[in-house]
Amino acid sequence: MKHLKLALCGAALLMTVGASQATDLGAGKAVWEKVNCASCHGADAKSPILPTYPILAGQHADFLAHALKAYQRGASGAPASANVRKNAVMGAFATQLSKQDIENVSAWLASQPGPLAVRK
Ligand code: HEC
Repeated sequence: MKHLKLALCGAALLMTVGASQATDLGAGKAVWEKVNCASCHGADAKSPILPTYPILAGQHADFLAHALKAYQRGASGAPASANVRKNAVMGAFATQLSKQDIENVSAWLASQPGPLAVRK
């Protein structure tokens, strides 16, 4: 029993360490600034330069990451499907991001205050 508890503690610790390595909010903000995503989506990610551009602040991180990967697939010439987004502008920006950049910038965006909400 004692061994089991120790093993569980170890596993929990590993999971915590793993989670902190999986996303890095500071690095996510740095990606946002380096690639200048703000020039279209607004510095706060909720004041886009055109009303048709999506608000990203407070959006679910997994949705954002999925969208960015779908733009990458679209830009790499994958045929249009439900899992591919073809957009010349976002394709060009998404292809500049590594897998880790996508996880970090998505986590940072999700942590920002924004008007997006689920109506309950
Ligand atoms: C030149 C303007 C421009 C820049 C710069 C830009 N975006 Fe976009 N972004 C757009 C437009 C326009 C759309 C909507 C495209 C569409 O219809 O799929 C969009 C869509 C998105 C979406 C999908 C959101 C949703 O709700 O479906 C994400 C995520 C996103 N952008 C993230 C980023 C990130 C991260 C960067 C920086 C690496 C960035 N954008 C830079 C214009 C831009």
